[in-house]
Amino acid sequence: MIQVAVMGFGTIGSGVAEVIDINREGILKATGRELHVKYILDLRNFPGNKYEDRIVHDFEKIVSDPEIRIVVETMGGVHPAYDFTKACLEAGKHVVTSNKAVVEDCGTELLEIARKHHVNYLFEASVGGGIPLIRPLTESLRGEKILEIQGILNGTTNYILSKMNREGQTFEEALRTAQELGYAEKNPEADVMGHDTCRKIVILSMLATGKEAKYRDVHCEGITGITPTDFAYAKKLGMAVKLVGTSRMGGSRAGIFVCPMLVPADSPLYAVNDVYNAVMVNGRTLGKVMFYGSGAGKLPTANAVVSDVVEILGHLQENMPFGWTSEKLPLADFEDQEFRYFVRFKGQYGNRIEEIRAAFDPEKVIELPEYPEEFAILSAKMSEERFQRKQKAFEGVLQVIRC
Ligand code: HSE
Repeated sequence: MIQVAVMGFGTIGSGVAEVIDINREGILKATGRELHVKYILDLRNFPGNKYEDRIVHDFEKIVSDPEIRIVVETMGGVHPAYDFTKACLEAGKHVVTSNKAVVEDCGTELLEIARKHHVNYLFEASVGGGIPLIRPLTESLRGEKILEIQGILNGTTNYILSKMNREGQTFEEALRTAQELGYAEKNPEADVMGHDTCRKIVILSMLATGKEAKYRDVHCEGITGITPTDFAYAKKLGMAVKLVGTSRMGGSRAGIFVCPMLVPADSPLYAVNDVYNAVMVNGRTLGKVMFYGSGAGKLPTANAVVSDVVEILGHLQENMPFGWTSEKLPLADFEDQEFRYFVRFKGQYGNRIEEIRAAFDPEKVIELPEYPEEFAILSAKMSEERFQRKQKAFEGVLQVIRC
């Protein structure tokens, strides 16, 4: 019997206890070992809960108990989650987490501590919720040169954008539903401003390159400025607005960025709706593969956490080669990235044809009868630096979305 402690009995933590129970026999059959949740650390009491008798309020109980081999951290936030994780690893306990803030912010140090103490620090659930993604990326694709990763990595914003698109809901209505369903972070700013997606694409980039990057150094835009009018144009273009995290790793510097993008109907990302996430990985010899599944939610995310716990059962005495080191990943300037640009302008295209053509060489011009006071273009491909320089000279730019 392997004793496990769960720190944080919120949505994911309670899901972990459930998944360990539901999959008990399957885990036993697959590994020959039984998992038992001995402690659940939380500030609250849970009277009447099935796991009420396991609740503890003192972290010392977990870290000082030699019976505890694996600790699950589902607390959220950096402190005290980081401090507890560090203490557990130093005490020779394996740690599994869904906490991308700690992984992105402190992962380099925690991975190093895990190596030193011959234990593992795993975080499958930190990116893509329930999608088996990190293990295929780091095991099946070990040795392959990853050229690009592009993904819809945040269930909440994908849910909001899908609702706005299909049901004409406002941003606020769709956000409220996402929060009620338990998808959104406590502070929805992390989701809607793109920070959650940014942490996730940075974690994937570090895993793909073995080098360290920081999300604060990455260009990041959220979805709060996306309006129903943008969806009307997107539909006309046969496209969808998605919040996309991209990491271009083919050159000597990685181009990592997060922004809303117009995705064409022939992209596999186009059909990814609601709380689903999808990650496209382009490998030098592999070509493109896509990982798809529930990007958030209690049991899918808890399943990913438990998959790490089960993985550790086969490596209780050793540190598996995994993660990245403190070597810095060189980052490309966002200004050097190239896109096509969807731009909405005030006024009539007929009055501005020459200046628009000279600056943006548009591939398409869209005029919608329901919006007679404006028009939109889809520009030729150009660098961000060139686009910003050109658009500064224009009056009446209503919206810009990259493509
Ligand atoms: N708030 C996150 C999301 C949870 O919506 O994707 C899963 O990381």
